[in-house]
Amino acid sequence: MTGTELTPGTEWWRTAVIYQIYPRSFADANGDGMGDLAGISARLPQLKDLGIDAIWLSPFYTSPQRDAGYDVSDYCNVDPLFGTLDDFEVLQRTAHDLGIRVIVDIVPNHSSSDHGWFQAALAAGPGSEERARYTFRDGKGKNGELPPNNWESVFGGLAWTRTTDPDGTPGQWYLHLFDSSQPDFDWDSEWVREQFRAVLRFWLDRGVDGFRVDVAHGMIKAPGLPDYTPPAEGGSMGGAPASALEPGISAETPLTAPYWAQDGVHEIYRDWHQVLAAYPGDRVLAAEAWVDPLSQMAKWVRPDEMHQAFNFAYLETPWNAPQLKSVIDESLEAFGNVGAPSTWVLSNHDVVRHASRLALTGDNLQGHGIGPKTVGLPDTVLGLRRARAASALMLSLPGSSYLYQGEELGLPEAVDLPDHAREDPTWFRTNGERYGRDGCRVPIPWEAAGESFGFSTGEKSWLPQPAEWAGLARDQQNGVAGSTLELYKLALRLRREHSLASGTVEWIDGFGPEVAAYRNGDVIVVANTGSASIQLPAGEVLLASEELVSRTLPGDTTAWLRTVQP
Ligand code: GLC
Repeated sequence: MTGTELTPGTEWWRTAVIYQIYPRSFADANGDGMGDLAGISARLPQLKDLGIDAIWLSPFYTSPQRDAGYDVSDYCNVDPLFGTLDDFEVLQRTAHDLGIRVIVDIVPNHSSSDHGWFQAALAAGPGSEERARYTFRDGKGKNGELPPNNWESVFGGLAWTRTTDPDGTPGQWYLHLFDSSQPDFDWDSEWVREQFRAVLRFWLDRGVDGFRVDVAHGMIKAPGLPDYTPPAEGGSMGGAPASALEPGISAETPLTAPYWAQDGVHEIYRDWHQVLAAYPGDRVLAAEAWVDPLSQMAKWVRPDEMHQAFNFAYLETPWNAPQLKSVIDESLEAFGNVGAPSTWVLSNHDVVRHASRLALTGDNLQGHGIGPKTVGLPDTVLGLRRARAASALMLSLPGSSYLYQGEELGLPEAVDLPDHAREDPTWFRTNGERYGRDGCRVPIPWEAAGESFGFSTGEKSWLPQPAEWAGLARDQQNGVAGSTLELYKLALRLRREHSLASGTVEWIDGFGPEVAAYRNGDVIVVANTGSASIQLPAGEVLLASEELVSRTLPGDTTAWLRTVQP
C-alpha cells in the first residue's frame, strides 16, 4: 500500500467518506455499453479530486447478471463483462496510489443458481450433503405441491421455487428471499461457513480494505421456518420501519420476520471479525442490515462484530427538521453506545435517488421505485435544491458518510425509462406493478458531448440516459462556482479542515421548528427545511447550498458558518 493517507492503525473508517461505485454504470472503457473495471481505474483521479477517502464497489464477480451481479456464480473471479482479476489489481493499485481505500461487496445470503455449488445440490438430490448447503425443503400438500411456508420474495411473488428431479417429476422446493435465480444458503452448514472464510481471505490476500456485506441481516432463518405475514406498511426490505410500529408496541420491540435479524447472524460476524483482524491495517466490515429500530441495528457493530452499518433510518427520514434532529440523536446514541461511529447515507443503488425522493409528494414509494405512472412525481428543481441542502447537512455530521455515484452531480432518478429497457427482477416479478431500481442505476454523465455523455467509449449505455443529463455532466460542473459538484468538493474539504467527522453535535435552538441548527467544533450548521427564510447567526459563511443574499438563509438551504470567537 502506498499513499500518505493510508497509514495503518488509524481506524480510518470512523470518519471516512466512502463513495459507492456501481460498476455497471460508472465508466465503460471497452465500448460495450456496460461499465467495467478499466473504466473505473481511468476515472479514479476525478474521485481523488472530489475528496473521498474510499470506494465501495458493488459486485463485479462472475455472474449471469439476473440481479445485476448480486447473483454470484464465482466469488473469487471477475465477470468478463467487467474485466479480469488483473484489471482489479490495477484498479486497486491505482486507488491505493491515490490514497483511496477499496471496499468490495460480499453476497453471503445467497448465490446464483448457476453457481457450481447449487448445481451440485440439484444433482445430488434430497438428503445429500450438497443440498444441506442451501435451504431445500419438501413441499406441503398431498404431493408436496404447496410451498413449505408462506414467505414472499423481497422482489415480489413466492420465496420458494420447486425443483424438477432428473426423471422429470417435481421435486423439493428451495428458498430464495430474492429472485428465483438467487437460492439462499443454509448457514447452519459449517461447509458454507468455511467457504466464505476462504472468500474473505481471497480478497484480503489481494489487499482489499474491507467488505460491504449484502443482506447482513438475512443469513440465519428462525428454526422451523414458521409462516410470517409482513405488515402492509413494510420497509424497503419487507421488515417494519420504525414509523410503522403500532401504538402500544415499544420501539424496543422489533417486528422481526423469521428471516431477518435473527440472533444467529452475530456469531458469523464475530467469526469474520477474527478473519479480518488477522490481517494488517484496518480492514472493515460494513453491514447492509435493514433492521429497525437503530438500537437493534447497533448490535451489528458491537466491538467484536462489524465496524459500520448503513444508517437506513437516516436515509428514510424525510426533509423535516424535527425528524432529522431525532434520527441524528438516536443514531449517535445507538451507535455511540457500542463504541461505533454512526454512518450517514442518502442514496444507493436500491433506492430512489435523493434528488427525487426528497420532493416526492405521493406515498413513500422508495422501496418500489418510481416511474412514469407514479402519483406525486417530484418537482425536479425543488428536489435538487433539497438534495443539495440535505447532502450539506449530512457531510457536516460526525461519523462516516456514504455517497452514491452521481449524487455529487445532483442526478435525479431517471423516471421515464422505457419498459423494454428495464432489467430489475422486481419489475418482472410484479408484472410491472413495481418499477424497481433501474431508475437510480442509469450510467452517469461525464461529458455533455457524445452519445453516452462520456460514460462509454462506444455509443451505447446499457440503460438509456435522460437527455437533460447533458447539463449535469461532470465537465459542465467542474470548476463552476455554485455547481453541485463544487458544493460537494467544498464540503469534503471543509469537513476535513474542521475535523467535523470526529466532532460532536450540540443543538442550537431558537430558529423555529423547521430549522435544524447545531454546533460541531468551530462550525455552526444551519439547515432550513421549511420554505420561509430565516436570519443567519453571526459567523463567516463557509458554505451554502444555495447562493445567499445578505445574511438570510432561504428555505430548503443549508449553510455552514465559522463561529465567532467571544
Ligand atoms: C441487497 C443489494 C440489492 C440486491 C439484494 C439481493 O439489498 O443491495 O441490490 O438486489 O441485496 O442480493
